[in-house]
Amino acid sequence: MVKQDLDALTQSVMERFADTPDARLKVIMSSLVKHLHAFAREVNLTETEWFKGIEFLTATGQKCTETRQEFILLSDVLGLSMLTVAMNNDKPQGCTEATVFGPFYVQDAPHYENGEDVANGASGQPCKVKGTVRGAGGEPVPNAVIEVWQADDEGHYDVQKEGLEHAQARGVLHARSDGSFYFKTIVAEAYPIPTDGPVGEMLEATKRSPWRPAHLHFMIKAEGYETLITHVFRRGDAYLDADPVFGVRQSLIADWISQADGSTLLDFDFVLNPVRSS
Ligand code: BEZ
Ligand code: FE
Repeated sequence: MVKQDLDALTQSVMERFADTPDARLKVIMSSLVKHLHAFAREVNLTETEWFKGIEFLTATGQKCTETRQEFILLSDVLGLSMLTVAMNNDKPQGCTEATVFGPFYVQDAPHYENGEDVANGASGQPCKVKGTVRGAGGEPVPNAVIEVWQADDEGHYDVQKEGLEHAQARGVLHARSDGSFYFKTIVAEAYPIPTDGPVGEMLEATKRSPWRPAHLHFMIKAEGYETLITHVFRRGDAYLDADPVFGVRQSLIADWISQADGSTLLDFDFVLNPVRSS
């Protein structure tokens, strides 16, 4: 096929979506075809490589279970998740930046009072976390719902531990009337994303590191404000510049300060973006 014929093929596939009733679906499908064809042409995709791609996507789907989403992991390591988060969370200066959700969030985590220990038996060095939830105008956000989750010192989330029947190193608490919060937990450590599937094989074949820099996950909800899904990263972590899921933002890196009693303190304030009234 000469170039004009290849162009005509792409054009006629795009035109096949011309009658799509949903305007947004029509845009997405035609653009997908346009860029997918351009990609195949740019790399001169061979039939063997095309089939290898099909096998890879098949294995990715087959790896998915109720608790394992290999396609999201693929999106994460291709930077697509972070790109989508960044495009959809353009907040005013001063608001806490959003980052990737990750696969280890669990609904209905246990509730804790301020001052309690969310580790609930997870192994790790003791850590205290405190801060204030504010709005973009500096106003405290009382009663904000703060969900936190993290890995233990072996790099495992509770949901990855076989046989563990209660939540560990995750919990829900409420900001006090002045927006402040305080809880105990364990020090977050760097850990590798799951590598026992096709995404892991791809990282290995391309010599990419699976190690995520140490972080705590947060989801913060309050009436009148946009929900914030983010991480706080540990300054000094060796993997901050090589996060396999591209989630690190400079503004989310904080000092975890050693205390006289042997524990570590993280003091981090969150700034929420008010919901725009329409
Ligand atoms: C996480 O931080 O929990 C995570 C995020 C993306 C992919 C894998 C793990
Ligand atoms: Fe994580």
